[in-house]
Amino acid sequence: MLSGRTTLSKFVIEHTRGQHSELGALLVDVAAAVKSISALVGKGALSGFAGLAAATNVQGEAQKKIDVLANEAILSHCEWGGQLAGMVSEEMEAAYRIPDDYPRGRYLLLFDPLDGSSNSDVNVSVGSIFSILSRPAAGDAADADFLRPGSEQVAAGYAIYGPATMLVLSVGSGTHGFTLDRESGNFILTHPDIRVPAETREFAINTSNERFWEAPVQRYVAECKAGRSGVRGVDFNMRWIASMVAEVHRILMRGGIFMYPKDHRDPARPGRLRLLYEANPMAMLIEQAGGAASTGRGRILDVEPETLHQRVPVILGSRDEVERVERYHREFDTGTDRPFVSPLFAERSLFRD
Ligand code: AHG
Ligand code: MN
Ligand code: MN
Repeated sequence: MLSGRTTLSKFVIEHTRGQHSELGALLVDVAAAVKSISALVGKGALSGFAGLAAATNVQGEAQKKIDVLANEAILSHCEWGGQLAGMVSEEMEAAYRIPDDYPRGRYLLLFDPLDGSSNSDVNVSVGSIFSILSRPAAGDAADADFLRPGSEQVAAGYAIYGPATMLVLSVGSGTHGFTLDRESGNFILTHPDIRVPAETREFAINTSNERFWEAPVQRYVAECKAGRSGVRGVDFNMRWIASMVAEVHRILMRGGIFMYPKDHRDPARPGRLRLLYEANPMAMLIEQAGGAASTGRGRILDVEPETLHQRVPVILGSRDEVERVERYHREFDTGTDRPFVSPLFAERSLFRD
């Protein structure tokens, strides 16, 4: 059932009354930033902002001009309202201090302004991801204030800039989707109380990294690929868009499992995705929709952060499949799995002593 014309503003005001009323105002500002990013991304090559910016970001990755503009859009829409004590962005090494001209509040906004930006030049869906924490008191935030486990998030969401722009949000009571009505400029509640199906036959992982994965992930993917002729007894389908927002959106709509697991390439990087503003908000949205989100060895939302930009392994989606991958990690770590030998091990002897 569609929910008539419940706008995002009405929804957040109704769901953040009382002690969280400032949170509603902050979410309305985030939505305004998202609309301006949507307009920019929607112009494509006509925006004149295709290509690389001069700089690299804190991750050492080439920044696109559109990454920089999306970052500025979120900062400028959210810094003035008096709800925030500080912000952390994928595109800024240090936490952002609220300018002196503006009042401070008790919320913290952490965000990836443009996720999947390598896809923007090829006209494939990209998105923005955000997480909101709260502090006991207003004032300027220190780095330590942002280093809170995802279980303490008071709100999380993403915008997806696809054929339609959508904003998917949780304030701790379910996961809800809003579609941008480009004529009225409003986000309209079109997907109330999204539920991730517990079972799935669809997996998403970048298999070009297969030789770097740990044995439990090798085992899981090999079994999916073996399909009906293997131990699973059913055929699986695979998808990889290389935009986490688009993968998570697909999983919220029809189920599936997404993995960017730990790999052996660089011990300093136990995964590709960032904990505070990619993994945590997506984990909250997936859990609030009845799915599961794990590092393979524990709940993502329970990870204690140590640094602003730290990375974490991510395995999320349909509950039964995520629990299976966790079990494979447990069996591997305790040596109780049957020795798993993938075709890769046998052919290339990559991990033999
Ligand atoms: P970002 O563009 O913010 O750096 O994030 C891209 C992320 C994520 O969206 C996606 O799942 C992953 O990187 C894709 O990685 P590969 O290029 O290794 O497939
Ligand atoms: Mn990203
Ligand atoms: Mn990004």
